[in-house]
Amino acid sequence: MGRKEAHIIVLGNEKGGTGKSTLAMHIVVGLLDAGKKVAVIDLDARQKSVARYLQNRQTFMANGGTKVVMPEFSVISQSEAPMLKDRELEDQKSIIKALSEYREKMDFVVFDCPGNDTYLSRLAHALADTLVTPLNDSFIDLDLLGEVSPTDYQVKKLSFYSEMVWDSRKFRSASGKPPMDWVVTRTRLASLDSRNNKRVHLALKSLQKRIMFRYVPGLYERVIYKELFPSGLTILDLEKVNSMSHVAARQEVRTLIDNLNLI
Ligand SMILES: Nc1ncnc2c1ncn2[C@@H]1O[C@H](COP(=O)(O)OP(=O)(O)OP(=O)(O)O)[C@@H](O)[C@H]1O
Ligand SMILES: [Mg+2]
Repeated sequence: MGRKEAHIIVLGNEKGGTGKSTLAMHIVVGLLDAGKKVAVIDLDARQKSVARYLQNRQTFMANGGTKVVMPEFSVISQSEAPMLKDRELEDQKSIIKALSEYREKMDFVVFDCPGNDTYLSRLAHALADTLVTPLNDSFIDLDLLGEVSPTDYQVKKLSFYSEMVWDSRKFRSASGKPPMDWVVTRTRLASLDSRNNKRVHLALKSLQKRIMFRYVPGLYERVIYKELFPSGLTILDLEKVNSMSHVAARQEVRTLIDNLNLI
């Protein structure tokens, strides 16, 4: 019997700076820690956040740092062909080529999408077994999913992004694949149990029924999620965690990964 194909995880939304790349790194390290084989494909060739994170990780080890688990990784740049049709064809070929390298030998392939609508990002969404959409804790970010009434949290209109995910789901079911698991989570939560926090929480609970995603607990705003970038490490890599805040950070990352139901 052949090996099972890699499970595809896509970190996506159409808004910049919501924590996709940060979350991608933590999910990747969590899966590697669990002994899984993981490859990362960075579709944001302008910023290359995840690829840079991983290069920093390699440099950290090359400079004598403790040995840490590494995924395989590559970056795909958008085609610059003059004709739209050719650009789309080239983008399709790039994704197929990268996947053909990883699909058979990896347990997971993680795509990190840019924070805007690109054809590469659409292709990745159509391939996602699990789609993870991080949002910041604000009603502006909720607009990314749909227009929600601020008084009774009823959904008035779906966003372009939700429509796009819906199309990806239709494409999957037409090709006989099991349904995509769409997971929405909040990142950069304020540490106080603020009124805004509660309202966004209620709105997401209301939206999840209508748009059919799973809303799971996310990450608080913590310095530890950004200060390790230069060394390419994450809270999961640290041998010793001393402060209460670091213990809590590690726990919330683990809970989030558990809630993705991947392992
Ligand atoms: N939970 C968090 N706590 C503190 N800082 C965070 C957290 N999550 C993300 N950040 C910081 O927020 C900024 C944006 O995060 P990140 O680059 O992961 O977002 P992104 O969605 O990938 O952005 P883009 O759409 O531009 O690719 C970065 O400076 C990152 O270090
Ligand atoms: Mg990013």
